[in-house]
Amino acid sequence: MSEDTVAFDVEDGIAWVRFNRPEKRNCMNPALNQRMMEVLDRLEFRDDVGVLVLSGEGSAWSAGMDLKEYFRETEAKGLGAVRKAQAEAYGWWRRLRWYRKPTIAMVNGWCFGGGYGPLFACDLAFAADEAQFALSEINWGILPGGGATKVVVDLLSMRDAMYHALTGELIDGKKAAAWKLVNESLPLAELKARVTEVANIVLKKNPVALKATKDAIRRVAEMTYDNAEDYLVRAQEAANSQDNEGRKEGIRQFIDEKSYKPGLGAYDK
Ligand code: ACO
Repeated sequence: MSEDTVAFDVEDGIAWVRFNRPEKRNCMNPALNQRMMEVLDRLEFRDDVGVLVLSGEGSAWSAGMDLKEYFRETEAKGLGAVRKAQAEAYGWWRRLRWYRKPTIAMVNGWCFGGGYGPLFACDLAFAADEAQFALSEINWGILPGGGATKVVVDLLSMRDAMYHALTGELIDGKKAAAWKLVNESLPLAELKARVTEVANIVLKKNPVALKATKDAIRRVAEMTYDNAEDYLVRAQEAANSQDNEGRKEGIRQFIDEKSYKPGLGAYDK
């Protein structure tokens, strides 16, 4: 297994994780998928990691699946190899969707097809205006699999999702933001500073509340109102059992100490 397909550093509470095959535009081969799972494992419970940012080395965020190593070479080995490769890719995207720490996609460049899996897995997404996105599957003759169809149906309007998938046309970061595929788009030169700013806002919040909140946003999307109400009561009670003191402290600092206002910012952890 290649050790260098994923790069990462931890600095001031932020784990900066990078797809690291710039010469292959960070397309995802089995080695990268295996390595990414290891890196996520290694970082998830570290006390010095409060937020994870996923970006790419070089000109790409990720050019999707590796058409040679993930598709052609794996298919040549038979169905067992195909299923294993799928499980490795889908596995780390799923792990990222339910990651213990908030996650931010920092889309610095190309983002194609299979790249929509980890894009959606990240809780927040910021793109460079210069980034280019496409569901290019249709350009080489397959449907957008690996969850990519589900991602655009969940995030975009039906008309935009259909246009995107049927034409395979590129959209830039600005259009991706207008379509709500990402939260915001801004010039590449300003991207890292903005992502750092957002990460620092999140780092000030109660970590148990962050995990409960990010899970709740994803879970309730598929529930009726009544089911969501019930789930949220139970989820908050489960969070209380992990961190009852945190919320009591938040109330104390506001009501008794008058040292902050919850409407204007986070309590002092
Ligand atoms: N799979 C395999 N190899 C890839 C991929 C990929 N997805 N993307 C890039 N590469 C390789 C190229 O074959 C090339 O390899 P080589 O140097 O050995 O010839 C190298 O990465 C550099 O790629 P270039 O095409 O030379 O880079 P350029 O900057 O000119 O173009 C671009 C970048 C537009 C991203 C182009 O590489 C491309 O179209 N890649 C495929 C994008 C794509 O459609 N991905 C699949 C989506 S569908 C899915 O993921 C299921």
